[in-house]
Amino acid sequence: MCYAIPAKLIEINASNNTGVVDYFGEKRNILLDAEEDGVKVGDYVYAQGGILVRKIEPQEAEEILKSWREVFFELKKTDEALSKIDQDKLPPNVLSVLQKINLRKSLKKEEMLSLFDGLNTKNELKVLYEVANNLRQREHGNASCVHGIIEFSNYCHNSCHYCGIRCERDIPRYRMSVEEILAVAKHAVDQYGFKAIVLQSGEDSYYDEKMLTTIVKEVKRLGVLVFISIGDRSKEVYENLYKAGAKAALMRFETSNAETFAKLRPGTTLEKRIELIKQIKNIGYVLATGFIVGFPGETNSDLVNNILLARYLGPDMYSFGPLIPTHNTPLANANPPTKDQVLKAIAISRFVDSNSNILVTSALETLDRNAKREALLAGANSMMINITPENYKKMYAIYDNRSQIDESCEKSIKDTVDLLYSLGRAPTDIGKIL
Ligand code: 5AD
Repeated sequence: MCYAIPAKLIEINASNNTGVVDYFGEKRNILLDAEEDGVKVGDYVYAQGGILVRKIEPQEAEEILKSWREVFFELKKTDEALSKIDQDKLPPNVLSVLQKINLRKSLKKEEMLSLFDGLNTKNELKVLYEVANNLRQREHGNASCVHGIIEFSNYCHNSCHYCGIRCERDIPRYRMSVEEILAVAKHAVDQYGFKAIVLQSGEDSYYDEKMLTTIVKEVKRLGVLVFISIGDRSKEVYENLYKAGAKAALMRFETSNAETFAKLRPGTTLEKRIELIKQIKNIGYVLATGFIVGFPGETNSDLVNNILLARYLGPDMYSFGPLIPTHNTPLANANPPTKDQVLKAIAISRFVDSNSNILVTSALETLDRNAKREALLAGANSMMINITPENYKKMYAIYDNRSQIDESCEKSIKDTVDLLYSLGRAPTDIGKIL
C-alpha cells in the first residue's frame, strides 16, 4: 500500500526554506529546511501537505518509482476523463457565475449565496460539482493525500452541545499511554506506509506539555508529518510542540456565528478561538480549519460566512462536515443537513480558494455512505483513515453511527485506496502545483 510517491528534489531556495520537487515531470512547491532535513538537490524525498517529510535512499525510491510509472500516467488519464464539464442548460445568472470561476475570478459573497440558494435540481447540482471538480483537477492534478488519524483520548473537559464526548455524557472513557500511541503510529508507518499521522483527542489536560512533546518527538522520528488536533492549548504549548516536530495542526472554529458559538460551546468564545487559530498559523503550522455544516437555525448566509471565515484564516486545508445529531446531547433532536448542502459547501470552498486542500470527513460519510466518492468529485482532494485501535475507536463516539467504526484498519485502507484509484487519484503530495 502506498500513500506517497517519492519525489525528486530539484531546487532548494534556502532564503525562504522552500524547494521544488518533481513527480514524473510534474513539479510542486514544498517547504523544507535543507540543513535540518539534511537534503540536497537530487535527493529523493517524501512530501506531505506541502512539507518535506523525509529523504529516501535512491535505490529504494527508484524501485518504487519504477512500479508507479505506468500506473501514474494511467491514473492521470482517468482523472482527466472524470474532470470534464458537461455543461447543460442552466439559468443565465448561474452560468455567468460559473463562467467567472472558470476564468478564476474571485466571487462576491452574493454570488456565493446565489450558488447555495439557486442551484437545487439534480442537473444544476451536477454542473456545480463538475465545475468544482474541474477546478480541483486544474489546480492539483490527480494528487491526493491520505492521512492516518489516531484518536488517543476521548476525555474532554468541554461541554459542546453537539459533541458525543462532551464531559457530561456518560460514556466509557479511555486514554492511550504514550507507549500505545507510539506503537500504533509505528505500525501504521512500517506496516501500512503512512507518511502523515494525525494525533487527535478531546481537550484532555492529562496530556501535559511534557507528555505531548514526547509523543510528537517520537512520532516525528518515524519520518512522518505530525499533525496535531488537541484543541485549546496556550500559544506557548503550540510553539513548543512545533519546535518538537509537529508541523501541522487541525483546529476548527465550528461556526462563524458568534452567538451560536457561545451557545453551543459554553464558556468559550469565537473571538478567542479565532485568535488561537491565527497564532497557530503564525507559528508556521500547516493549518487545517473549518466548521460544522447544519447547526440549528443555520442559514445559507451563515454557511457562506463560514467559508469566508475559513478562507480569511488562510488554511492549507479545509475540514468541515455535517452535524450528526447524537443521542444524549442537547442537539440530539436536531435535523442533520442534506448531503447536497455539504457537497455545495465543498464545491463553493473550492471556488473561493482554488488551491486549497479540502478534506472529505467521516461525518459526511456517516451521513451518506456514498458521499465520499461524490465529495471527491465535487472539489475535495484529501482523506483521513482512522487507525485508532478497534477497541478505542468505538469509544471515540463524537457522534452516532460513525463510519469506519466497525471495520478493521486494513479494510478502511483498502476501501480508500480502491476508491482513489477508481477516480484516477494518485498519492502524490498535495503541495501547490507549479
Ligand atoms: N457532528 C459532526 N461533527 C462533530 N464534531 C463533534 N461533534 C460532532 C457532531 N455531532 C466535530 C467537531 C470537532 C471534530 C473533531 O468533530 O467539529 O472539531
